[in-house]
Amino acid sequence: MILTGASAIVTGGAVRIGREIGRHLAQVGVNVCVHYGSSQTEADSAVAEFEALGVRATSVSANFAEPVTAANQVVEHATRELGPISILINSAAIFESGTLSDTDEQSWDRHMNINLKAPFFVTQAFQQQLNGQSGAVVNIVDWRGEKPVPGQVAYTISKAGLIAQTKLLAQELGPQIRVNGIAPGAILPAPGESELDFQQKASLNPLQTTGSPSQIAEATLYLLLSEFVTGEILHVTGGQQLS
Ligand SMILES: NC(=O)c1ccc[n+]([C@@H]2O[C@H](COP(=O)([O-])OP(=O)(O)OC[C@H]3O[C@@H](n4cnc5c(N)ncnc54)[C@H](OP(=O)(O)O)[C@@H]3O)[C@@H](O)[C@H]2O)c1
Repeated sequence: MILTGASAIVTGGAVRIGREIGRHLAQVGVNVCVHYGSSQTEADSAVAEFEALGVRATSVSANFAEPVTAANQVVEHATRELGPISILINSAAIFESGTLSDTDEQSWDRHMNINLKAPFFVTQAFQQQLNGQSGAVVNIVDWRGEKPVPGQVAYTISKAGLIAQTKLLAQELGPQIRVNGIAPGAILPAPGESELDFQQKASLNPLQTTGSPSQIAEATLYLLLSEFVTGEILHVTGGQQLS
């Protein structure tokens, strides 16, 4: 895939990992549509930052708690502003703690809608607008989706579903569209998590360190450029999933 001059949608692209992926795409000449939920100020600054790198950029707000409507809003806005979109990065997600006994229906539905149903219907709209042309999808999943541990039950099941979706759609959408996933480890503290608690996660992986958003962005570029790779889940975890 030639990245320079291509156009991408990055969901959850205003802040944190999604912002870094958008930055790396813009740096190699990809036009970027930044999807956001509520981070309008950060989305505006992302658009200005990416345009300063010499690409076209635009932003669109859509609430993934209403996944089908939101998916269509995002893809319609992106194609209207940037033309055909050949790259889709599904990064937007929520992460809430919960066990079987204390997960209520609202939390379950939030996770499934935002983390799983939205990427499914954004991918459907992305495929339709590609109209048989080639493209690539990268889903940002989580190592917990393949090696579940108790503590974030709805989150983990939603990410396990997104991993299954990645492998299934890689088969359905080939050869035109490659579909891969990245499973990050400890990259940034979760909402409400202290920096100290987060840094202690370094002891949980063989490399004894935490990662960075730029390492996820570099893995994204690798998957976009790798023409013989589809259905792959690339772990960027320091090996955390091995223990
Ligand atoms: N951080 C880590 O160490 C880590 C580890 C493993 C996996 N991951 C995965 O990597 C990805 C990025 O992680 P992150 O920590 O950078 O994510 P994040 O900051 O927790 O969330 C990314 C964005 O998702 C968007 N979002 C949430 N609810 C939404 C809704 N209802 N409608 C529309 N957008 C919504 C938010 O956009 P707004 O701010 O605009 O509302 C948010 O900024 C996620 O898929 C996450 O599960 C992260």
